[in-house]
Amino acid sequence: MNEVNRFTQVCTDLQQSPKTWLVTGVAGFIGSNLLETLLLLDQKVVGLDNFATGFQHNLDEVQSLVSAEQWQNFRFIEGDIRNLEDCHKACAGVDYVLHQAALGSVPRSIADPITTNSANITGFLNMLVAARDAQVASFTYAASSSTYGDHPALPKVEANIGNPLSPYAVTKYVNELYADVFARTYNFSTIGLRYFNIFGKRQTPDGAYAAVIPKWTAAMIKDEEVFINGDGDTSRDFNFIENAVQANILAATVTHPEAKNQVYNVAVGGRTTLNTLFEALKENLSNNGVNYSKAPVYRDFRAGDVRHSQADITKIQTLLDYDPQFNIIQGIEKAMPWYVQFLK
Ligand SMILES: NC(=O)c1ccc[n+]([C@@H]2O[C@H](COP(=O)([O-])OP(=O)(O)OC[C@H]3O[C@@H](n4cnc5c(N)ncnc54)[C@H](O)[C@@H]3O)[C@@H](O)[C@H]2O)c1
Repeated sequence: MNEVNRFTQVCTDLQQSPKTWLVTGVAGFIGSNLLETLLLLDQKVVGLDNFATGFQHNLDEVQSLVSAEQWQNFRFIEGDIRNLEDCHKACAGVDYVLHQAALGSVPRSIADPITTNSANITGFLNMLVAARDAQVASFTYAASSSTYGDHPALPKVEANIGNPLSPYAVTKYVNELYADVFARTYNFSTIGLRYFNIFGKRQTPDGAYAAVIPKWTAAMIKDEEVFINGDGDTSRDFNFIENAVQANILAATVTHPEAKNQVYNVAVGGRTTLNTLFEALKENLSNNGVNYSKAPVYRDFRAGDVRHSQADITKIQTLLDYDPQFNIIQGIEKAMPWYVQFLK
């Protein structure tokens, strides 16, 4: 079966026979997009979030995009993954776990490694224990491309990682180690998705730790300066959110044993420099009626940042039938109207 067919087939099967999903970090960027897609597929969804970096307005927006009946299928628990009891409550009766809750951002982890550690490692372990106890069918979790650390090879292949370059990267690597040990020790099914710079609607532009695409887009819309850390030749494999949502659904529902208890790159396999990204955002904004004429301001490289990042996506294409439908330009085209509407 080819890639598009498996995803289409899985969506059809889910609609015919709805499942119960737990999305942790549901009020965040990726979590709220997972929630939207799952509710539109008539799934039952339990959401867990403590609003550390997520927002009620993300949940409100999802509510406005689904039917009243679909919204009835959502049960929200305000709780903390650092609290085992909250995790047990959230996992009860769940088929598939999509664990997204964590404190993102390399610089945040450098500024405050203890808080990042408690959410990303203690919280992760709590979720594994609770999901194991609830005997869920699968546990899919947000891993990270930061795990490649200082490994020089491009593109990045899952088996070859280097030394972590930040506390955040350590936490995401520890997640993979724990997931693997749980799979071996408790006959538990886990899949780690190493996200490469996901972007799209509801990714916040606010705060010191905002991701580059929403941050620059917001600055351009407000006609403020855009800062480029380093010489602008730093590159990333930017991946549109809808590709990441597809990867999660394919991972949670995969049944053949060789595809389970693995980690996968989730990207498109492209590489875009920050200088190219700046021009692409500027051009796309002008198509949306926003003309930005300032030149970017270059400043120092940021500590802990990997210089270049690009994924080899052969493994996820082969074992999960992943087929990303959006390259970076198509993703920016789809995301931009949302930014223009919400940030103007
Ligand atoms: N966005 C990316 O490009 C990217 C790249 C690599 C990995 N990731 C990972 O993907 C996941 C989701 O990231 P995102 O971009 O949606 O970030 P986000 O900050 O928008 O979402 C994270 C959510 O987790 C919640 N959360 C944090 N700590 C919690 C706790 N202790 N208890 C309960 N909820 C808690 C936050 O309130 C937030 O709603 C994270 O695990 C992140 O590390 C994201």
